Amino acid sequence: MRRPLVAGNWKMHGTRASVAELIEGLRNLALPGGVDVAVFPPCLFINQVIEGLQGKAITVGAQNSAVEPMQGALTGEIAPSQLVDAGCGLVLVGHSERRQLIGERDEVLNRKFAAAQACGLKPVLCIGETLEQREAGKTLEVVGRQLGSIIEELGAGAFVNAVIAYEPVWAIGTGLTATPQQAQDVHAAIRAQLAAENAEVARNVRLLYGGSVKAANAAELFGMPDIDGGLIGGASLNADEFGAICRAAGN
Ligand code: 13P
Repeated sequence: MRRPLVAGNWKMHGTRASVAELIEGLRNLALPGGVDVAVFPPCLFINQVIEGLQGKAITVGAQNSAVEPMQGALTGEIAPSQLVDAGCGLVLVGHSERRQLIGERDEVLNRKFAAAQACGLKPVLCIGETLEQREAGKTLEVVGRQLGSIIEELGAGAFVNAVIAYEPVWAIGTGLTATPQQAQDVHAAIRAQLAAENAEVARNVRLLYGGSVKAANAAELFGMPDIDGGLIGGASLNADEFGAICRAAGN
């Protein structure tokens, strides 16, 4: 059985004061057994969050990391090895905001994914189609290409130590959620693509859904057979709402 994972992506939100408040809220949550919980604060706050959540079973991850695994001359970047040293366990790779607004392409993302794994940091590969691509009937083609890029470069075995998050771009921050069936259809296709390479890897890899997940719609989404949890944006900035989403994954 795959253990669900619920992860909060705080994106570029927070001040020292609001982060302290959020940490306090997270510390007070009753988290369900049988569910892994993680948060991805802005890099600036990673130390604060790791210290603040000591003793609480919440993994801290980074939203981005460098293409090179080890520290060195690469201005403005943070090495996966430095994130591991700080106590991070996960890193997002290829969030659509970075693909679209910063122009990160598959070749760069392949390097980031490999560099993270080389240091023992688990990548969460984010993939998803735009509204235009969905309307053109290209969803599975786009998502398949994004996933295929890593499989071609690193092999399906790379997903023994990775997580995949399906985040339709049109559902991110819009209040529009994919229906459980729409999400399930894409998740099933992702798993089938991996299964064609390695059935065991496909069976065990966790596939998260992201895009306007809230406490009110989480249980229905997490109830689908190939949805193993969620990557939560806006709703993860409210500890109580985030806690309710974590509990939905435990039921
Ligand atoms: P929202 O939950 O705010 O739609 O964001 C989803 C997301 O992008 C998580 O990475």
